[in-house]
Amino acid sequence: MDKKSIVAGNWKMNKTHKEASEFIKNLAPLIQSARASAYIAPSFTALHDSITAAKDTNIIIGAQNMHDETDGAFTGEISGGMLKTLGIEFVILGHSERRHVFQEDNSFINRKVIRALKDGLQPILCIGETQKEREEKKTEVVLEEQFFKGIQNISKKDASNIILAYEPVWAIGTGKTATSEIAEHTHSFIRKLIIKHFDKEISKNMHILYGGSVKPQNVEELMQQENIDGVLVGGASLEYKSFAEIVNKA
Ligand code: PGA
Repeated sequence: MDKKSIVAGNWKMNKTHKEASEFIKNLAPLIQSARASAYIAPSFTALHDSITAAKDTNIIIGAQNMHDETDGAFTGEISGGMLKTLGIEFVILGHSERRHVFQEDNSFINRKVIRALKDGLQPILCIGETQKEREEKKTEVVLEEQFFKGIQNISKKDASNIILAYEPVWAIGTGKTATSEIAEHTHSFIRKLIIKHFDKEISKNMHILYGGSVKPQNVEELMQQENIDGVLVGGASLEYKSFAEIVNKA
C-alpha cells in the first residue's frame, strides 16, 4: 500500500464542545509522529472548538452530515457552505445510521456528495450491507447499487477527492468485526467497481476505509490487507488513548 493511510473517528452524538477540545488537546501529542492521517468528525456544536484545538496539529476536523441544498427553508439542517466557512475539511455521507435510522436514500446521498465536492469538502461516502443482505448473498448487489447511485454524475476529476468507506451494518457498534479476509475480499470487489465506473488510476488512488468495530486489537491485521487504506472508527474513537493507539498502529 503506497498511499498514506487514514484513521477517521466518527464520534456520532457524543461529546460537548468542551469535551471535544479537551480530547483533541490530549490526543495531539500522542500522534505527533504517526504515519497515518488522523481525521475526527465531532457533532456540529463541537466543530468550532475542535478546529481551534486542532490548529497547528496534524488532526483534520470534519462533519458527520450536511444537507444537499445551499440554503433555504430546511429547519434543523446545515449546509456544506456553512461547514466550509467554519474551516471543515471533510464530511461523512451515507453512514448506515443516516440510511437506516433517518431513511436517507441513494439519490439524496448522491446529491449531498455532489454538493460537498462543489463546496470544497472531501466526502467520505459510506456503503455497506445489512446482516440479512449478507445472509441472502446480496452483499455485492447492494454495494454496487449504493456505490453507483452514490457517485452518479461525478466527473473523474472530482472522483479523486472522494474517500470510500465500507461499513458492513452488522459490524457497526456490535463488537462483530468483519474478519480481515471478509473485509479484504469486499474491498477488492469495491476496487473493481471503481475501475468499472471510473478507471484504473482513480481506483488505485482512491482510499477505501474499513469501518465496523475497529479497535486497537484488530487494526493492524486489517491494515495489512492490500485493499484496506484506513479505518473509520466509532466506539473506539471516543477515548483518546485508544484512538491514539489505532492511529499509531495504522
Ligand atoms: P463502531 O462504528 O466502530 O462503533 O462499530 C463505526 C461507524 O459507525 O463508523
